[in-house]
Amino acid sequence: MSHPSDALLAQIVSAASDAIICVDQKQQITFFNDGAAHIFGYDEPEVLGQKLDKLIPRRFHTAHRTHVRNFAHSLVPARRMAERSRVTGLRKDATEFAAEASISKVMGASGPLYAVILRDVSDERAEAHTNERLLAEMQRAVRARDDLLGLVSHDLRNPVNAVRMLASAILRTARDGDASVLPQVSEHAEVMLQAASQMDALIQDLLDVTRIEAGRLPLSPQPLPAAQLVAVALETMQPIAESHGVRLSSRVDPSTPAVIADPDRIAQVLSNLVGNALRFTPEGHEVWIEARVEAPLVTFSVHDTGSGITPEELPFVFDRFWQAKRTNRSGAGLGLSICRGIINGLGGQIWIESELRTGTVVSFTLRMAALDAVTTP
Ligand SMILES: Nc1ncnc2c1ncn2[C@@H]1O[C@H](COP(=O)(O)OP(=O)(O)O)[C@@H](O)[C@H]1O
Ligand SMILES: [Mg+2]
Repeated sequence: MSHPSDALLAQIVSAASDAIICVDQKQQITFFNDGAAHIFGYDEPEVLGQKLDKLIPRRFHTAHRTHVRNFAHSLVPARRMAERSRVTGLRKDATEFAAEASISKVMGASGPLYAVILRDVSDERAEAHTNERLLAEMQRAVRARDDLLGLVSHDLRNPVNAVRMLASAILRTARDGDASVLPQVSEHAEVMLQAASQMDALIQDLLDVTRIEAGRLPLSPQPLPAAQLVAVALETMQPIAESHGVRLSSRVDPSTPAVIADPDRIAQVLSNLVGNALRFTPEGHEVWIEARVEAPLVTFSVHDTGSGITPEELPFVFDRFWQAKRTNRSGAGLGLSICRGIINGLGGQIWIESELRTGTVVSFTLRMAALDAVTTP
């Protein structure tokens, strides 16, 4: 391997876009490359023989001298680079700029020389600054939206509940009242009741999402038999499965141990998962719930043989408000994100596996209760 000639090296150094500046023991500039000329705005003859201080804002002079003196007396071997450090440079036009610099000591014929390599990072800094500002703004906006969401959902619940109660009352009155108005009134009241229930479910979801986001989802964990959790879900979802013409079953060994769960919240998770499975599974197909022991965890999964999800879409299903296709039939794309909030809140994991036109499996884990009894005396 042949070394580049001195002439070639000089060309490389001169053409480097970083500033390369050499100073002697008296801190006088002995070399100033094109990069330095460009960054500082001086031509080489203007600075040769001048003190390095010329390139540093006055308020840093003392600190800089101390730094160089320490470096000169340090035992750092010649040619070894010091860490790249943050400094402030001073241009010919008196403007300052942020830079990163390193200094190295080389032994010249007439004593040690110092080579400073310096890069103008003011653009990078400005960019980082802008990014930080944008991030803070974004976080503020998200917080504001969540606060609003919480407020609106909270205030919507009362009127919606009033509609629900009144619709139920009308239904009851109609049943006992005038036979001639009965069918129409009942029909209207049914529609009102259904609409109000849908609204209530959406509001409940929005409230849950805002609570999860704020880390304030109330949970009451307690030991519960795995089979019981599944049985409850099965019972609630059976009528919906029937209306879809989908067979819904459970494959849970009755001896599966108790887990640490919040019964209402796990019912919510399972009915959302089964609800999704039923929505995306054609008539005549099957949906089933499984529970497997993998001590110290029990893994629950909801299987379907439905449409499946494309690999491109799969990473987004747990995002808030995400739906493969916007549907106004049910849900707002909050279900899976709430499920994740609940399961994570109970210390478990939730994940999804899916194959297009084959089916989907959503699984989550809960801790076995027996183990808790052992570890918490
Ligand atoms: N079992 C499933 N099969 C196919 N797609 C599913 C399944 N479960 C969820 N998805 C997809 O994930 C989206 C988000 O689900 P979810 O968060 O429960 O919201 P929503 O039920 O309101 O649509 C669904 O809209 C659908 O696109
Ligand atoms: Mg859903």
